[in-house]
Amino acid sequence: MLAKKIETVLNNQITVEAESSQIYLAMACWAEVKGLEGVAQFMYDQSNEEREHMLKLVKFINERGGHAKISALKAPNVTFGSFQEMFQMLHDHEILVSESINNLVHITLEEKDYATHNFLQWYVAEQIEEEAMARTILDKINLIGDDKGGLYLFDRDIQQLTVTSSASTPDE
Ligand SMILES: [Fe+2]
Ligand SMILES: [Fe+2]
Repeated sequence: MLAKKIETVLNNQITVEAESSQIYLAMACWAEVKGLEGVAQFMYDQSNEEREHMLKLVKFINERGGHAKISALKAPNVTFGSFQEMFQMLHDHEILVSESINNLVHITLEEKDYATHNFLQWYVAEQIEEEAMARTILDKINLIGDDKGGLYLFDRDIQQLTVTSSASTPDE
């Protein structure tokens, strides 16, 4: 049975993951209308992954005798100054999510909830992957800068980054 405090903080994390999914969906749309099909597909995939992260929390809360609460979400940015700016936002957002997960882990220890602590280890590992991926992409896009040819190649190759990253995630 979940303690009320744990249920509340896990529910807050549902909102964080749902908002991540919406943010990445908005990025996918912007990339798509800008004609970068590869980047758009990459962001659609990221958006789906965040929804999976959310659903995993929903199931866990309900199975442990709590009630997963689906809340209103903040509207994401729908346009971005540049792809550099967009990927900087993605990177910064993943750092925020990691902080949120770390905070959750800390609370489970305080509350001596070792089952939830164990459940959250999947998220800890996932955030290591996602931060690494965000950093790799940001480094590449910063190298390219405003170079159109570079962006064209980046758009073609970004799928490869996705494949490499998911291949190195043990349980996906
Ligand atoms: Fe996530
Ligand atoms: Fe993420």
